[in-house]
Amino acid sequence: VKVIFSGIQPTGVPHLGNYLGALQQWVELQKEPSSSTRLFYCVVDLHAVTLLQNPQQLQIWRRETLAALLAVGLDPDRCNIFFQSSVPAHCELMWILSCTASVGYLSRMTQWKSKLSLPEQSSVQDAAAKAKLKLGLFSYPVLQAADILLYGTTHVPVGEDQLQHLEFARECAGNFNAVYGHVLTPPETILSPAKRIMSLKHPMLKMSKSHADPRSRILISDSMENIEMKIRLAMTDSISGVSYDPVSRPGVSNLLSIMSHLDEEERSCEELAEACKGLTLRQFKDKASQTIDKGVSEIRDRYIHLMQSSGASALDAIARQGAVTANKEAGATMADVRRAMGLH
Ligand code: TYM
Repeated sequence: VKVIFSGIQPTGVPHLGNYLGALQQWVELQKEPSSSTRLFYCVVDLHAVTLLQNPQQLQIWRRETLAALLAVGLDPDRCNIFFQSSVPAHCELMWILSCTASVGYLSRMTQWKSKLSLPEQSSVQDAAAKAKLKLGLFSYPVLQAADILLYGTTHVPVGEDQLQHLEFARECAGNFNAVYGHVLTPPETILSPAKRIMSLKHPMLKMSKSHADPRSRILISDSMENIEMKIRLAMTDSISGVSYDPVSRPGVSNLLSIMSHLDEEERSCEELAEACKGLTLRQFKDKASQTIDKGVSEIRDRYIHLMQSSGASALDAIARQGAVTANKEAGATMADVRRAMGLH
């Protein structure tokens, strides 16, 4: 039996990077027969609080993220959708994994290093900046490993930015098993075809929820007008014509890549570039906006409907049901873990 697990942080409405890089794949996996593939999709609210969050804002974001998961087409009858904080075993297993996880490995993780290296600051400020860094941010990957290992997960569908975290999760399983015998399953990664969607404003950086400029990303709830505005303002170049060349034309190539992943005829970036060859930049951007609008319009409508109509109670019921199954499954793994360690 295959067990799929993946997570998303509730730090805003998901953007095209989340959708194409992960959520589309999550939905695709529902097509596998339920007798052979179990699905766990988690809104990782405890990961979100590794950075300071406003409580009211976080509460809204949790609900928006849950609504977004349903809007993209996840079926609560087919998969278990739940909040991480509803399953206490995530924290318990995290502690246990911490006891066999390597500090050296964690300190080499790029996400941590990117927070550590503040190149323009003097060493005095550097020390102050380091003092502000929190333990939770450092051990973030251990919680992620616990998420995955709790469910006997065999496959984790993610975008490229999560590869290092999944490598670490395998390492955690190996470290634990080396001491206590084979209890935890090292998971495989499923890398989506749209593994890295870039920012509209800085096409050398990935599209991200945390970037200060909201025009750098398109949300799955954006209106046609918003999409058009963001695409018109997207950074491209002054070379005439349309061609696919991610190195020298990152902006244009990112738009082609987004179009390709939403294209009904499933054309490649090169094929789309050929089809758009004669267009002016303005015409090309209008075409990109239309493709994106078409690709997200159903999702957007469902999202707006879910946020308006069913409000709190229907969404809560789905999360509650998901948490019941998740707690049961996690409880079984924890029983094995406790037995292996003599904690029974
Ligand atoms: P998060 O919330 O940042 O992103 C959710 C998913 O979206 C993918 N993604 C992208 N893919 C392509 N291009 C982009 N620009 C882009 N931006 C985001 C991410 O790769 C991810 O798959 N640490 C995780 C959440 C997590 C998790 C887990 C994932 C916690 N526990 C266990 C898998 C398994 C995160 O912050 O994802």
